[in-house]
Amino acid sequence: MSSRYAEVYEHWKRDPVGYWGEAARDVSWFEPPHHVFDPEQGVYGRWFVGGSTNTCYNCVDRHVAAGRGKDPAIIFDSAMSGASRIFTFYDVLQEVTAVAAVLQNLGVTKGDRVVIYMPMVPEAVFSMLACARIGAVHSVVFGGFAAQELASRLDSARAKVVIAASCGLEPGRAVAYKPLVDAAIDLAETKPSHRLILQREQLRVDLRAEHGELDFAELVAAEREKKSEVACVPVLATDPLYILYTSGTTGKPKGVVRDNGGHMVALQWSIRNIYGLKPGDVSWTASDIGWVVGHSYIVYGPLLAGVTTVLFEGKPVGTPNAGTFWRVVEQYRVNVLFTAPTAFRAIRRDDPEGKFVSGRDLSSLRMLFLAGERADPETLHWAEALLRIPVVDHWWQTETGWAIVANPMGLEVFPVKHGSPTVPMPGFAVDVLDDGGKPLERGVLGNLAIRLPLPPGCLVTFWEADDRFRETCLEAFPGYYKTADAGLIDDDGYVFVMARTDDIINCAGHRLSTGALEEVCASHPDIAECAVVGVADAIKGQVPYGFLVLKNGVTRSESAIIQEVVDLVRERIGPVAAFRTAFILPKLPKTRSGKILRGTMRKIADGEVWTMPATIDDPATLDMVSRALQKPVYISADR
Ligand code: COA
Ligand code: AMP
Repeated sequence: MSSRYAEVYEHWKRDPVGYWGEAARDVSWFEPPHHVFDPEQGVYGRWFVGGSTNTCYNCVDRHVAAGRGKDPAIIFDSAMSGASRIFTFYDVLQEVTAVAAVLQNLGVTKGDRVVIYMPMVPEAVFSMLACARIGAVHSVVFGGFAAQELASRLDSARAKVVIAASCGLEPGRAVAYKPLVDAAIDLAETKPSHRLILQREQLRVDLRAEHGELDFAELVAAEREKKSEVACVPVLATDPLYILYTSGTTGKPKGVVRDNGGHMVALQWSIRNIYGLKPGDVSWTASDIGWVVGHSYIVYGPLLAGVTTVLFEGKPVGTPNAGTFWRVVEQYRVNVLFTAPTAFRAIRRDDPEGKFVSGRDLSSLRMLFLAGERADPETLHWAEALLRIPVVDHWWQTETGWAIVANPMGLEVFPVKHGSPTVPMPGFAVDVLDDGGKPLERGVLGNLAIRLPLPPGCLVTFWEADDRFRETCLEAFPGYYKTADAGLIDDDGYVFVMARTDDIINCAGHRLSTGALEEVCASHPDIAECAVVGVADAIKGQVPYGFLVLKNGVTRSESAIIQEVVDLVRERIGPVAAFRTAFILPKLPKTRSGKILRGTMRKIADGEVWTMPATIDDPATLDMVSRALQKPVYISADR
């Protein structure tokens, strides 16, 4: 391996405390940390103990103080509404301060939780930063989730205030968010004192003062007029910045807790060393602020590093066409683009020859980063040939907050091995373990695990659930964090990430729990039991298929029941689940001990070679699966 990366990685390995202590100099502290790492605190130790800082100050105020107030901070572009606006660091400071004043007036103080349920609009980013400014903890909920999912997050976080928009914009329709917020609050035990609603012109809603519903824009404008000043509240490096809920193996989402100090240190390190970005560059992460990718690389990473970030509302295709990405890159002179492989598969499907690229000046674009799901070599080849720039796959999770394995473009460029996100980043000692926790040899497939402690920026625990964090992530392999991904490391040290080892599936870069989907399907009164498996999809990577067994005596039409189950998933989990396909089976394939043979079912659905499991209870059940799959697939058109 060539030297620069090896030097840095070795430096970190030799002296992790010294290494991260030095990296922490890039953060502005009110009070520097007393200990870079304290192994006695938290679940596996805590970073930058005793340090006092403020993430909003580091993202905004310090750039203004350094004379960069007039530089662009956020470029907002909506392919849905046609809106476009550039906010300088000074503009962002004004907006964020006004939102912070509104929140303070509503009684939000340090440590209070604020749930943000908004589409990709600048006000969402201002709200996140405003929370950070006053030390409140935000929890952003992706707009594609249904009321029940929102309700479970409101309850878990015990949210004091909700900030929402009247609607999101999806191709061909405005998605009304306000009724979802209302329904969620009705369902939840937690009743936030106020609902701040951003009225979008595409769908204005009535606000009921008696329910604490307030007009976001009016209140913010009033504070802006008054030029209210809101100082950045000092928080401990170890205080939580945000909670981000992600799919676990049950219907109950896991609240990943990110702290202030470690998060800033890690993201700034990554912006420079992985993405090769410097102040003044333009970075565009085409994801959503509802996901970790959006938190880290639409909002916090670029702003911390003084890099301009593009906030894009739209899709890679259909808004209006597969050339939208190239329009945005050209228009804003984007230097680094980051998205999920699914976006490129969608573009390729609509524009296989890349005709929309011709005539566009994409000379600003230095690199394309992909993550969120396995980057299939075919898509990588296509993107490389189309753009003629390095296409960098990197592997990470909501839990880690930044890349575990990457090709560190700011350090040195490794030759690409398609199918591998390349090498572990400093902070991450990745091992491949067998199921008993024994390290495996190079080239052998096993459980990918990260030696503790996790580096700065990774989750510190699950929200108010230390034990669940220990049980889910730390107990399987003592001394390690279990990634729940399977993979291998080759002789050159390249890591290959192959599949999840749990029942999480990856649909269009979104993480779904088949367990959660099964819970919803099983709640239908006619369903006795069910199995949901992730089946290969040319665009989305995987989509969930439901196999349903009816209760004895149910004689209603099968297609009506399937329609109801599909609708139920949409209503309870949300459209993001992309659950449209289900089959009725007389019986599920199981082992003699009663374990559903989901793996074999998936292989059959994917048309892969499969063998009859020795422990199968009734071999005929697998024929039933094959036969069911040959029936026409049912697709719900209901919205
Ligand atoms: N609010 C409300 N509904 C939303 C939503 C939001 N913020 N985001 C998605 N939805 C809805 C969609 O309208 C769609 O509804 P439908 O079933 O009525 O069509 C459903 O949720 C699924 O959405 P999506 O996963 O986006 O699929 P799609 O078919 O609309 O688009 C892609 C497919 C590949 C173009 C799209 O998934 C995409 O752009 N992916 C980019 C990758 C990405 O952002 N990954 C995130 C992690 S990096
Ligand atoms: P999320 O928490 O939603 O970001 O999803 C994380 C999961 O997505 C990981 O555990 C992997 O299963 C998968 N994933 C993310 N990036 C990659 C990648 N580059 N290669 C393979 N799988 C990936």
